[in-house]
Amino acid sequence: MDNGNSMKLKISENYPIYNTFHIEAHAARYAKYASVEELQSLVPELQRQPVLHVGGGSNLLFLHDYDGLVLHSAIRGIDVVEEDDASVVVVVGAGIVWDDFVAYSIEQGWSGAENLSLIPGEVGASAVQNIGAYGAEAKDIIVKVEAVELATGQVREFDNAECHYDYRQSIFKQELRGKYAVTHVYYRLFKHFEPCVSYGNIQSILPQGEPLTPQLVRDTVIQLRQSKLPDPDVQGNAGSFFMNPVVSQEQFESIQKDYPNMPFYVVPHGVKIPAGWLIEQCGWKGRALGKAAVHDRQALVLVNLGGATGQDILLLSDTVRQAVKDKFNLSIHPEVNIIS
Ligand code: EPU
Repeated sequence: MDNGNSMKLKISENYPIYNTFHIEAHAARYAKYASVEELQSLVPELQRQPVLHVGGGSNLLFLHDYDGLVLHSAIRGIDVVEEDDASVVVVVGAGIVWDDFVAYSIEQGWSGAENLSLIPGEVGASAVQNIGAYGAEAKDIIVKVEAVELATGQVREFDNAECHYDYRQSIFKQELRGKYAVTHVYYRLFKHFEPCVSYGNIQSILPQGEPLTPQLVRDTVIQLRQSKLPDPDVQGNAGSFFMNPVVSQEQFESIQKDYPNMPFYVVPHGVKIPAGWLIEQCGWKGRALGKAAVHDRQALVLVNLGGATGQDILLLSDTVRQAVKDKFNLSIHPEVNIIS
């Protein structure tokens, strides 16, 4: 009988890679691991070929098949590792579906993750991409991240500061891109609820007269997301395709002169302008280019109308970016990882 450690992990060949854009792409080799030890057992394989680590496939655009090894975490488990009167720290396996974790934490009476309800993807990606929505970001509740160095199999912990978090950024997307696989994430969640409902129109759609609870915020966020964002099971997409650009105060004022109603948010290094608004001003909201289109309810989202290739989506992205550049002299950049 096989025992866990000596067992060789199965590597599949020519494996279809799931992605929410529903773009057809195959991995030359594919492995799913369920523990840190299983991942470490793959190190010799990882050393001899290109490696791409995927999560739920909700932030990927494949331009063609992947000629290397695609890794996917199936590490599960949600365990409390610290608890006091005010909060808990939980360690969560990277392969858990993010929204399952949010739902579970609310069931336990813990708050802090409710604004991030229904974001597609898995726990590992929350720490890599610093997912964010409705005034909250994963970095606000991340205590530390456990990751394995792919070249050596060594386990390393990164505390929150070492992750270099910023808007949709982390050390795992920058300096250490492709070098580590996140295996577990530690989050601090709270026993006393401090709602964060000042973002956009959350406040205006919250039912009046009902006590504000994490569950009510979750339900409201879900309602808002479902009203604006296309369901990937129905129409291929990867959520926001672009990041919102952050511009200098000077640049902002020069655009605002011509567009006094432009929405904006003041952030630490400048002013953030919603890319969806910029794209809509360029007349691209709801417009198609071949089999790809800009979503008609949220111009930040590009959709696969059916049978689009990665190149079709990329052509639309380039065309939209150029339109924004021509009209506003502003560069917008994809948030989605383009795998070329
Ligand atoms: N807007 C337009 N036209 C559009 C889209 C937006 O004018 O087509 C305007 C809205 O009217 C609003 C402003 O832009 O005044 C902001 O819109 P929204 O609240 O929808 O947020 P966003 O900045 O477009 C970001 C995140 C979303 C997240 C929402 C809510 C990024 C790249 N995207 O979008 O994240 O759900 O805020 O917090 O920061 C995702 O990452 O996949 C995602 C959907």
